[in-house]
Amino acid sequence: MKKILVAHGSPRTNSNSIALTGKLIESIVSKRNDTTVVTKYLREMNINPCKGCDMCKRIGQGCIQRDDMAVMYPLLRGANLIVLSSPVYWWGVCAQLKTFVDRFYALDISEFKHKKLVVVTTGGEEETGVQYRLIREQFQEVCNYLDMDFIGYMGISADDDHRVEKQERTYIRAEELADTIAASLSS
Ligand SMILES: Cc1cc2nc3c(=O)[nH]c(=O)nc-3n(C[C@H](O)[C@H](O)[C@H](O)COP(=O)(O)O)c2cc1C
Repeated sequence: MKKILVAHGSPRTNSNSIALTGKLIESIVSKRNDTTVVTKYLREMNINPCKGCDMCKRIGQGCIQRDDMAVMYPLLRGANLIVLSSPVYWWGVCAQLKTFVDRFYALDISEFKHKKLVVVTTGGEEETGVQYRLIREQFQEVCNYLDMDFIGYMGISADDDHRVEKQERTYIRAEELADTIAASLSS
């Protein structure tokens, strides 16, 4: 079984990035019957910011903070594919997602080796905007550092006046990306 962990950053229930990522996951699962998916909504979780205390490195028993990362660390460890979704906030990802990613720090780098990463973002501005490239490059660097495979990225223009569900080309792109992801889950 290939384990997929999906972490949604948007604070909104009627979220474009969540809807688009849901479509992507649905499509991946339809192409592969050997996947299990765990989906987490970070807005519902109590995840504190990294304190930068370095106790995880000095003592070597993980993060000393007691919060919902206790649920997420085993899921991160077990996942073959991690899918992160977020709205674009101020040319980056939203605080909920960034806070979650900051806490990856407590795991040893080797625990991420050869896991696969996909990132999905939606923003209000057009897709030529630099924010989508900045986020892609940020996660490419994260993957280089952690020795993860960055196998997919979508930076899509959408807001409540132009919802993802109403943009046919957006769902076509999700289908195309799902093909790539489904194929690369074998390797
Ligand atoms: C605090 C805040 C900051 C935002 N900053 C940007 C931005 O820098 N670039 C952009 O394209 N859209 C920006 N937006 C628009 C959202 O990214 C856009 O509406 C997105 O589709 C919302 O995603 P969601 O529906 O998944 O929450 C911002 C919205 C908010 C509320």
